[in-house]
Amino acid sequence: MSLRQRLVVLGATGSVGRSTLDVASRHPDKLQVWALSAHRDAEGLLALCRQFRPARAVLVDAAAATRLQQALRTEEIPTEVEAGSAALDAIASAPEADQVMAAIAGSPGLASTLAALKAGKRVLIANKEPLVMAGALMMRAAAASGATVLPIDSEHNAIFQCLPASARCGETVPPGIRRILLTASGGPFRETPLTELAAVTPEQAVRHPNWSMGRKISVDSATMMNKGLELIEAAVLYGVDEARIEVLIHPESIIHSMVEYDDGSTLAQLGRPDMRTPIAHALAWPGRWESGVEGLDWRQLAQLRFQTADLARFPALRLARAALRAAGPAPNVFNASNEVAVARFLEGKLRFTAIAELVERVLEAAPSAGLPAGDELEAVLAVDAWARGEAERLLAQDA
Ligand SMILES: NC(=O)c1ccc[n+]([C@@H]2O[C@H](COP(=O)([O-])OP(=O)(O)OC[C@H]3O[C@@H](n4cnc5c(N)ncnc54)[C@H](OP(=O)(O)O)[C@@H]3O)[C@@H](O)[C@H]2O)c1
Repeated sequence: MSLRQRLVVLGATGSVGRSTLDVASRHPDKLQVWALSAHRDAEGLLALCRQFRPARAVLVDAAAATRLQQALRTEEIPTEVEAGSAALDAIASAPEADQVMAAIAGSPGLASTLAALKAGKRVLIANKEPLVMAGALMMRAAAASGATVLPIDSEHNAIFQCLPASARCGETVPPGIRRILLTASGGPFRETPLTELAAVTPEQAVRHPNWSMGRKISVDSATMMNKGLELIEAAVLYGVDEARIEVLIHPESIIHSMVEYDDGSTLAQLGRPDMRTPIAHALAWPGRWESGVEGLDWRQLAQLRFQTADLARFPALRLARAALRAAGPAPNVFNASNEVAVARFLEGKLRFTAIAELVERVLEAAPSAGLPAGDELEAVLAVDAWARGEAERLLAQDA
């Protein structure tokens, strides 16, 4: 019998998915890549199937799945191909799956991550948006099934590493912790004159100074919506209220976050800005594995700078804090309206500064919309749909 852990990578063709497979390829004795998924990138998934020979591959797009199936047959690769989002849930919760990497971009990752949590898997969560949409539901599902949640976002993984060894995601942090310091690079426009922000193009926004990432998260990093989502994610994962989470601009992206204790000690996790470090940490936890990432060259680290985040430059942070304080459906509204705004911005149809403006207008409209207050899946999806509809309505009204 194989003692290797069987790994499912949801979002295998993306930035986090590829970094995960890079780490997995270094540990064939410990990990077997059992299933891979993508949305419609059949060529990308084919190349990964050639390399890893998974038992299953899922493409949500049916035409792309047919192309993949034909190519695999021609090359006599025995991977079984399925199409559609229900197939994602099936591989995420299959009895064969031991570890599930949730690395789909945005809200489309909700159902499959939830399926993995309900099935009691060890779930490595990179996909932060579902935690913002439905954090309570997801943590309840994990607690009920005994699933293990391991954070992949570099900041949340750093916090996890700085917390006492007994701390678990989904449980309130143990006593003795004063606050969490969430670091942020400040993105590509940290020092751009405020008057120039409205003219920022998608190409400029996706060029992050320190990290190489997918397009949506790169735009979120430029607006700091990403840090807003992470603030909510930290509150969900560690049960800490927003007043005890400080966002600190740290342009070098060397300290990935910190935990300050009641005795005045601060623990920080440092490393190169390379997602393979948090990925290897979570895959190996509670052990440690080689990730392919070199240690820091301390002599090259001239200085580590820290600044308070400027709320005039980054209104997203103010909006995220307000959404977290309002609780109920507000974080979900924050996420959905941002997804609509970012998609429009990437299409070249919305100004960069209008992203936060749109999110603010949808958040303002939410209290009088009679949204369901519950946190069950039906309520979550209804709120998500309302926020998207409201964002589209406002955009149409402005056009
Ligand atoms: N990139 C980072 O360094 C980083 C760091 C921390 C957290 N995260 C989080 O990790 C998640 C993934 O980010 P990423 O940068 O890796 O994204 P990405 O490069 O855009 O990759 C997204 C992956 O999800 C798949 N996908 C997209 N839409 C889908 C849909 N509707 N249904 C099923 N699959 C879909 C894509 O498939 P196709 O290739 O076929 O489109 C691709 O495999 C995000 O939630 C992000 O916030 C990323």
